[in-house]
Amino acid sequence: MEHANTLGRSSLHVPRLGVGAMTWGDPKGFARLHPAKTAYGGADGIEEEKRALELSLAAGVNLFDTAAMYSMGAAEQRLGELARGKDILIATKYPSGFSFRIEDFTKELGMTLHRLERESIDLYQHHFPNARISIPSLMNVVADAVEAGKVKAVGVSNYSAEQMRQAHAALARRGIPLASNQVEYSLLKRQPEINGVLDACRELGVTLIAYSPLAGGMLTGKYSAQNRPGGFFRRILPQYNGKALQAIQPVIELLRSIGEKYSKSPSQVALRWLIENPIVLPIPGAKNGKQALNNAETLQFSLTPQEVNALNQATLTWRV
Ligand SMILES: NC(=O)c1ccc[n+]([C@@H]2O[C@H](COP(=O)([O-])OP(=O)(O)OC[C@H]3O[C@@H](n4cnc5c(N)ncnc54)[C@H](OP(=O)(O)O)[C@@H]3O)[C@@H](O)[C@H]2O)c1
Repeated sequence: MEHANTLGRSSLHVPRLGVGAMTWGDPKGFARLHPAKTAYGGADGIEEEKRALELSLAAGVNLFDTAAMYSMGAAEQRLGELARGKDILIATKYPSGFSFRIEDFTKELGMTLHRLERESIDLYQHHFPNARISIPSLMNVVADAVEAGKVKAVGVSNYSAEQMRQAHAALARRGIPLASNQVEYSLLKRQPEINGVLDACRELGVTLIAYSPLAGGMLTGKYSAQNRPGGFFRRILPQYNGKALQAIQPVIELLRSIGEKYSKSPSQVALRWLIENPIVLPIPGAKNGKQALNNAETLQFSLTPQEVNALNQATLTWRV
């Protein structure tokens, strides 16, 4: 088992990989009537979510990521229910929609604590930056919550390098580290390497939490132009269409051939490519126990620098 790290310069000890619990919980509203309208299609239900949690924990993966907006609170509620009495770390996010104001922060925090059935949140992340909201002012309010003992570590999500610097500086004035920035990062989405985010993480001592590390399932190798993934997002977004699936086949072949050497699957090699960078922590989404276990087993091997380089070269098209 690979050793845990601290999350950025916070005191939170985290594994090298977490579990994305975005699909968990029973959909609400429109999505309840039409499960196919959820991002990735219907979830696999509470029993499988429970298995995913238990198998992850048994494999040493005790960090679970959710957000207030996933299924309108139902995902947080389900995670809180499944985590009852268990020693797990919960990372969640407060919303930042058009109507969100800094004054809403404390109310949002209270509702999340209630849904998660907790006294404090291990990692609380600002879900999206919002041009109407001053980052230093927001971070001051978050710092108050840290001082009140309701938040253990502070994170942001979808922040640019410049926005990270603002958050980091504002928190530093209160003696609190910015622990993480959660952004999309995978072999098929390598922008953090060129937009300054990865460099800023390195410079500021911040962990890059990689969301959609399997490119929404595309890097598992189970999908093809003839067998397209389900769910609303994966039906409408161009990165999941037949042409995109055709274009990634050489990447899947390389993942497969590297994986054969270690008896690992394409998805495990894709996750491992991220983990080989010590400041990156992927949070693959798991809908069931089998997926969660498969993802956790990524911690049982490593890639050589030559293999990492071969994957870098094979995915230059996605580094734009
Ligand atoms: N901060 C943000 O703005 C943001 C945005 C998106 C996601 N996130 C977070 O990141 C987490 C992960 O991202 P994601 O769910 O978008 O994408 P992902 O991790 O790249 O893909 C997850 C999907 O891939 C499939 N899968 C996962 N493991 C598998 C395995 N071992 N074998 C076969 N199939 C497997 C499952 O869907 P199928 O079985 O249906 O293919 C699963 O739902 C989310 O749960 C959420 O916590 C954050």
